[in-house]
Amino acid sequence: MEIFYEIKPLKKRLETLRKQGKKIGFVATMGALHDGHASLVEASNRDNDITVVSVFVNPTQFNNPDDLAKYPRDLQSDVKVLEENEADILFAPSVPEMYPTEDTRQFELGSVAEVMEGKYRPGHFNGVCQVVSKLFSIIEPDNAYFGQKDYQQIAVIREMVRRYMPDFKGKIVSCPIKREADGLALSSRNLLLSPEQRTSALLISRTLFKAKEMSDGGATQSELTNFIKKSIATDANLCLEYVEIADRDTLQPITADRPVNAVICITVYDGKVRLIDNILL
Ligand code: PAF
Repeated sequence: MEIFYEIKPLKKRLETLRKQGKKIGFVATMGALHDGHASLVEASNRDNDITVVSVFVNPTQFNNPDDLAKYPRDLQSDVKVLEENEADILFAPSVPEMYPTEDTRQFELGSVAEVMEGKYRPGHFNGVCQVVSKLFSIIEPDNAYFGQKDYQQIAVIREMVRRYMPDFKGKIVSCPIKREADGLALSSRNLLLSPEQRTSALLISRTLFKAKEMSDGGATQSELTNFIKKSIATDANLCLEYVEIADRDTLQPITADRPVNAVICITVYDGKVRLIDNILL
Protein backbone atom coordinates (compact mmCIF):
# COMPACT_ATOMS: atom_id res chain seq x y z
CA MET A 1 0.00 0.00 0.00
CA GLU A 2 1.27 3.46 -0.85
CA ILE A 3 1.03 6.08 1.91
CA PHE A 4 0.75 9.82 1.28
CA TYR A 5 0.81 12.52 3.92
CA GLU A 6 0.67 15.45 1.50
CA ILE A 7 -1.88 16.56 -1.05
CA LYS A 8 0.40 17.44 -3.98
CA PRO A 9 2.14 14.06 -4.44
CA LEU A 10 -1.16 12.24 -3.91
CA LYS A 11 -2.86 14.28 -6.64
CA LYS A 12 0.06 13.64 -8.99
CA ARG A 13 -0.10 9.89 -8.37
CA LEU A 14 -3.87 9.83 -8.89
CA GLU A 15 -3.52 11.80 -12.11
CA THR A 16 -1.11 9.16 -13.44
CA LEU A 17 -3.49 6.36 -12.43
CA ARG A 18 -6.43 8.14 -14.04
CA LYS A 19 -4.43 8.57 -17.27
CA GLN A 20 -3.88 4.80 -17.22
CA GLY A 21 -7.67 4.47 -17.23
CA LYS A 22 -7.93 3.29 -13.60
CA LYS A 23 -11.23 3.70 -11.84
CA ILE A 24 -10.80 5.22 -8.38
CA GLY A 25 -12.85 4.35 -5.30
CA PHE A 26 -12.63 6.36 -2.10
CA VAL A 27 -13.36 5.61 1.55
CA ALA A 28 -13.19 8.59 3.95
CA THR A 29 -12.48 7.67 7.57
CA MET A 30 -11.32 9.13 10.84
CA GLY A 31 -9.22 6.04 11.57
CA ALA A 32 -9.63 3.53 14.43
CA LEU A 33 -10.59 1.21 11.61
CA HIS A 34 -12.84 -1.79 12.18
CA ASP A 35 -14.76 -4.33 10.10
CA GLY A 36 -17.31 -1.67 9.14
CA HIS A 37 -14.55 0.29 7.38
CA ALA A 38 -13.16 -2.97 5.97
CA SER A 39 -16.55 -3.64 4.37
CA LEU A 40 -16.38 -0.22 2.65
CA VAL A 41 -12.88 -1.01 1.36
CA GLU A 42 -14.16 -4.37 0.13
CA ALA A 43 -17.05 -2.68 -1.70
CA SER A 44 -14.64 -0.19 -3.26
CA ASN A 45 -12.21 -2.92 -4.30
CA ARG A 46 -15.09 -4.74 -5.99
CA ASP A 47 -16.18 -1.74 -8.09
CA ASN A 48 -12.88 0.04 -8.78
CA ASP A 49 -9.27 -0.57 -9.83
CA ILE A 50 -7.77 1.52 -7.05
CA THR A 51 -9.06 2.13 -3.53
CA VAL A 52 -7.95 5.27 -1.71
CA VAL A 53 -8.65 5.51 2.03
CA SER A 54 -8.22 8.70 4.01
CA VAL A 55 -7.49 8.65 7.73
CA PHE A 56 -8.00 12.10 9.20
CA VAL A 57 -9.58 13.04 12.51
CA ASN A 58 -11.26 16.19 11.31
CA PRO A 59 -11.25 18.80 14.08
CA THR A 60 -13.87 21.03 12.45
CA GLN A 61 -16.66 18.45 12.83
CA PHE A 62 -16.28 18.06 16.61
CA ASN A 63 -18.51 20.42 18.51
CA ASN A 64 -17.15 19.07 21.81
CA PRO A 65 -13.38 19.52 22.41
CA ASP A 66 -13.36 16.65 24.90
CA ASP A 67 -14.83 14.34 22.26
CA LEU A 68 -12.05 15.36 19.82
CA ALA A 69 -9.32 14.85 22.44
CA LYS A 70 -10.62 11.38 23.32
CA TYR A 71 -11.22 10.21 19.75
CA PRO A 72 -9.19 6.97 19.31
CA ARG A 73 -6.11 7.32 17.10
CA ASP A 74 -3.74 4.53 16.04
CA LEU A 75 -2.32 4.96 12.55
CA GLN A 76 -0.10 1.89 12.77
CA SER A 77 -3.02 -0.40 13.45
CA ASP A 78 -5.03 1.38 10.69
CA VAL A 79 -2.22 0.65 8.21
CA LYS A 80 -2.37 -3.01 9.20
CA VAL A 81 -6.16 -3.20 8.69
CA LEU A 82 -5.87 -1.47 5.31
CA GLU A 83 -3.06 -3.74 4.13
CA GLU A 84 -5.02 -6.82 5.21
CA ASN A 85 -8.00 -5.53 3.26
CA GLU A 86 -5.95 -4.66 0.19
CA ALA A 87 -6.48 -0.92 0.03
CA ASP A 88 -4.09 0.60 -2.52
CA ILE A 89 -3.47 4.08 -1.20
CA LEU A 90 -3.67 5.62 2.27
CA PHE A 91 -3.94 9.38 2.60
CA ALA A 92 -3.13 10.46 6.16
CA PRO A 93 -2.70 14.24 6.17
CA SER A 94 -1.92 16.45 9.16
CA VAL A 95 -4.31 19.18 10.28
CA PRO A 96 -2.15 21.99 8.76
CA GLU A 97 -1.97 20.05 5.47
CA MET A 98 -5.78 19.94 5.27
CA TYR A 99 -6.38 23.37 6.81
CA PRO A 100 -3.38 25.63 6.04
CA THR A 101 -5.73 28.49 6.83
CA GLU A 102 -8.99 28.45 8.76
CA ASP A 103 -11.88 27.05 6.72
CA THR A 104 -14.64 29.61 7.13
CA ARG A 105 -17.02 28.14 4.56
CA GLN A 106 -20.60 27.83 5.73
CA PHE A 107 -22.70 25.22 3.94
CA GLU A 108 -26.41 25.92 3.67
CA LEU A 109 -27.98 22.50 3.26
CA GLY A 110 -31.60 23.03 4.19
CA SER A 111 -33.81 20.81 6.27
CA VAL A 112 -31.88 17.56 5.77
CA ALA A 113 -29.02 18.97 7.90
CA GLU A 114 -31.18 20.72 10.49
CA VAL A 115 -32.86 17.75 12.17
CA MET A 116 -31.42 15.10 14.53
CA GLU A 117 -27.59 15.29 14.49
CA GLY A 118 -27.87 18.77 12.98
CA LYS A 119 -29.96 19.90 15.93
CA TYR A 120 -27.97 18.16 18.67
CA ARG A 121 -24.47 18.73 17.27
CA PRO A 122 -24.49 22.29 15.94
CA GLY A 123 -21.70 22.85 13.42
CA HIS A 124 -21.01 19.12 13.05
CA PHE A 125 -22.30 18.74 9.51
CA ASN A 126 -20.67 21.97 8.43
CA GLY A 127 -17.33 20.47 9.50
CA VAL A 128 -18.13 17.19 7.72
CA CYS A 129 -18.91 19.12 4.53
CA GLN A 130 -15.71 21.16 4.85
CA VAL A 131 -13.54 18.08 5.01
CA VAL A 132 -15.47 15.87 2.58
CA SER A 133 -15.61 18.61 -0.06
CA LYS A 134 -11.81 19.05 0.28
CA LEU A 135 -11.23 15.29 0.09
CA PHE A 136 -13.51 14.95 -2.95
CA SER A 137 -11.64 17.79 -4.70
CA ILE A 138 -8.26 16.22 -3.94
CA ILE A 139 -9.13 12.63 -4.82
CA GLU A 140 -11.84 13.12 -7.48
CA PRO A 141 -13.11 9.57 -6.98
CA ASP A 142 -15.36 7.72 -9.41
CA ASN A 143 -17.15 6.21 -6.41
CA ALA A 144 -17.15 7.22 -2.72
CA TYR A 145 -18.34 4.78 -0.06
CA PHE A 146 -20.06 5.70 3.21
CA GLY A 147 -21.57 3.49 5.91
CA GLN A 148 -25.27 3.67 6.66
CA LYS A 149 -24.64 3.83 10.40
CA ASP A 150 -24.22 7.55 9.80
CA TYR A 151 -27.48 7.59 7.88
CA GLN A 152 -28.04 11.34 8.01
CA GLN A 153 -24.42 12.06 7.08
CA ILE A 154 -24.92 10.37 3.71
CA ALA A 155 -28.01 12.47 2.98
CA VAL A 156 -26.12 15.63 4.00
CA ILE A 157 -23.10 14.79 1.81
CA ARG A 158 -25.39 14.10 -1.16
CA GLU A 159 -27.06 17.49 -0.63
CA MET A 160 -23.66 19.21 -0.25
CA VAL A 161 -22.51 17.76 -3.56
CA ARG A 162 -25.78 18.71 -5.25
CA ARG A 163 -25.61 22.30 -4.05
CA TYR A 164 -21.89 23.07 -3.91
CA MET A 165 -20.01 20.66 -6.18
CA PRO A 166 -22.01 20.57 -9.43
CA ASP A 167 -18.93 19.40 -11.35
CA PHE A 168 -18.27 16.43 -9.07
CA LYS A 169 -18.83 13.32 -11.17
CA GLY A 170 -18.34 10.68 -8.47
CA LYS A 171 -21.14 8.43 -7.27
CA ILE A 172 -21.92 8.32 -3.55
CA VAL A 173 -22.47 4.73 -2.55
CA SER A 174 -24.29 3.91 0.68
CA CYS A 175 -23.25 0.62 2.34
CA PRO A 176 -25.16 -1.42 4.96
CA ILE A 177 -24.40 -1.15 8.69
CA LYS A 178 -21.92 -3.77 9.93
CA ARG A 179 -22.83 -5.27 13.32
CA GLU A 180 -21.08 -7.52 15.82
CA ALA A 181 -22.63 -10.99 16.14
CA ASP A 182 -24.55 -9.71 19.18
CA GLY A 183 -26.04 -6.81 17.21
CA LEU A 184 -23.87 -3.88 18.33
CA ALA A 185 -23.30 -1.54 15.38
CA LEU A 186 -19.56 -1.26 14.70
CA SER A 187 -18.17 2.12 15.62
CA SER A 188 -14.75 3.50 16.46
CA ARG A 189 -16.33 4.84 19.64
CA ASN A 190 -17.01 1.26 20.85
CA LEU A 191 -13.32 1.23 21.83
CA LEU A 192 -14.17 3.78 24.52
CA LEU A 193 -16.76 1.53 26.22
CA SER A 194 -15.98 -0.33 29.45
CA PRO A 195 -17.05 -4.01 29.46
CA GLU A 196 -20.15 -3.06 31.48
CA GLN A 197 -21.02 -0.19 29.12
CA ARG A 198 -20.57 -2.50 26.14
CA THR A 199 -23.15 -4.87 27.62
CA SER A 200 -25.51 -1.93 28.14
CA ALA A 201 -24.96 -0.79 24.55
CA LEU A 202 -26.50 -4.04 23.28
CA LEU A 203 -29.89 -2.78 24.37
CA ILE A 204 -29.76 -0.13 21.63
CA SER A 205 -29.73 -2.54 18.69
CA ARG A 206 -32.04 -4.99 20.49
CA THR A 207 -34.55 -2.18 20.96
CA LEU A 208 -34.33 -1.21 17.29
CA PHE A 209 -34.75 -4.82 16.11
CA LYS A 210 -37.81 -5.21 18.34
CA ALA A 211 -39.23 -1.90 17.10
CA LYS A 212 -38.88 -3.06 13.51
CA GLU A 213 -40.69 -6.27 14.39
CA MET A 214 -43.47 -4.21 16.01
CA SER A 215 -43.64 -1.94 12.97
CA ASP A 216 -43.89 -4.95 10.64
CA GLY A 217 -46.74 -6.14 12.85
CA GLY A 218 -48.58 -2.84 12.39
CA ALA A 219 -47.52 -0.71 15.39
CA THR A 220 -48.13 3.02 15.09
CA GLN A 221 -45.46 5.66 15.25
CA SER A 222 -46.31 6.71 18.80
CA GLU A 223 -46.38 3.07 19.97
CA LEU A 224 -42.90 2.61 18.55
CA THR A 225 -41.52 5.80 20.05
CA ASN A 226 -42.98 5.02 23.48
CA PHE A 227 -41.61 1.50 23.38
CA ILE A 228 -38.10 2.72 22.44
CA LYS A 229 -38.03 5.39 25.17
CA LYS A 230 -39.19 2.92 27.83
CA SER A 231 -36.80 0.20 26.70
CA ILE A 232 -33.70 2.45 26.78
CA ALA A 233 -34.74 3.83 30.19
CA THR A 234 -34.49 0.35 31.72
CA ASP A 235 -30.67 0.49 31.69
CA ALA A 236 -29.11 2.90 34.18
CA ASN A 237 -25.99 3.40 32.02
CA LEU A 238 -28.03 4.59 29.04
CA CYS A 239 -29.47 8.04 28.46
CA LEU A 240 -31.51 8.64 25.32
CA GLU A 241 -30.62 11.86 23.52
CA TYR A 242 -33.19 11.50 20.76
CA VAL A 243 -35.19 8.99 18.79
CA GLU A 244 -36.80 10.04 15.51
CA ILE A 245 -38.90 8.13 13.04
CA ALA A 246 -38.09 9.98 9.85
CA ASP A 247 -38.71 9.76 6.14
CA ARG A 248 -35.81 7.81 4.58
CA ASP A 249 -35.16 10.42 1.91
CA THR A 250 -36.01 13.80 3.42
CA LEU A 251 -35.19 12.83 7.03
CA GLN A 252 -38.12 14.91 8.21
CA PRO A 253 -40.30 13.42 10.98
CA ILE A 254 -43.03 11.36 9.41
CA THR A 255 -46.57 12.54 9.94
CA ALA A 256 -48.42 9.34 9.01
CA ASP A 257 -49.63 7.13 11.83
CA ARG A 258 -47.97 4.02 10.35
CA PRO A 259 -44.37 4.55 9.30
CA VAL A 260 -43.63 3.64 5.67
CA ASN A 261 -40.40 4.35 3.79
CA ALA A 262 -39.05 5.37 7.17
CA VAL A 263 -35.91 5.06 9.24
CA ILE A 264 -35.66 5.06 13.03
CA CYS A 265 -32.61 7.05 14.11
CA ILE A 266 -31.46 6.93 17.69
CA THR A 267 -28.69 8.53 19.75
CA VAL A 268 -27.89 7.29 23.21
CA TYR A 269 -25.24 8.22 25.75
CA ASP A 270 -23.71 5.11 27.27
CA GLY A 271 -21.95 6.72 30.22
CA LYS A 272 -20.06 9.52 28.44
CA VAL A 273 -19.85 7.71 25.09
CA ARG A 274 -22.27 8.94 22.46
CA LEU A 275 -23.56 6.09 20.28
CA ILE A 276 -25.78 6.32 17.23
CA ASP A 277 -27.69 3.62 15.40
CA ASN A 278 -30.62 3.30 13.02
CA ILE A 279 -32.87 0.79 11.31
CA LEU A 280 -34.92 0.97 8.14
CA LEU A 281 -38.64 0.22 8.43
O1 PAF B 1 -17.94 9.27 9.06
C1 PAF B 1 -16.81 9.70 9.36
O2 PAF B 1 -15.95 8.96 9.83
C2 PAF B 1 -16.48 11.17 9.12
O3 PAF B 1 -17.57 11.98 9.39
C3 PAF B 1 -15.92 11.45 7.72
C4 PAF B 1 -16.94 11.17 6.63
C5 PAF B 1 -14.67 10.61 7.49
C6 PAF B 1 -15.52 12.92 7.60
O4 PAF B 1 -14.54 13.27 8.54
